[in-house]
Amino acid sequence: MKRIAILSALALLAGCDNDPAVVFEDAGIILPDDPIDLPEGPGRDAVIENCTACHSPSTMLQQPKVSREKWESIVGKMKTLYKAPVDDAAVPAIVDYMVHVQSQPEPGV
Ligand code: HEC
Repeated sequence: MKRIAILSALALLAGCDNDPAVVFEDAGIILPDDPIDLPEGPGRDAVIENCTACHSPSTMLQQPKVSREKWESIVGKMKTLYKAPVDDAAVPAIVDYMVHVQSQPEPGV
């Protein structure tokens, strides 16, 4: 009886020395380059702080030109529908920026 106990203790110890069954390899992902950067303009920082967590610049810039009211409603939709943590105080600056950028000859280039 005593001998069996010793043997199983040895078996347990031996088990601890085994290599782990699951081996994780280093893995990486490469995100696509976004060739478009947010152009300079008033409110750019507000957009970076509140919008770029979810969007690449091109998502925001490659939109049909719309009115200021439409931008207000898009930003509102980001907050209510997609739960974007947009700072209320930053909304006018964000809307100004989007309107400004869309009024440039080649937005986003
Ligand atoms: C919490 C994540 C999140 C944040 C932050 C966010 N959005 Fe969005 N946005 C989405 C999702 C989800 C969609 C819909 C799916 C898509 O088009 O990628 C979307 C879509 C859009 C679109 C496409 C047109 C449309 O009406 O759907 C625009 C433009 C846009 N967002 C602008 C903004 C701007 C400007 C901000 C900053 C105020 C912002 N987003 C912040 C999640 C977010």
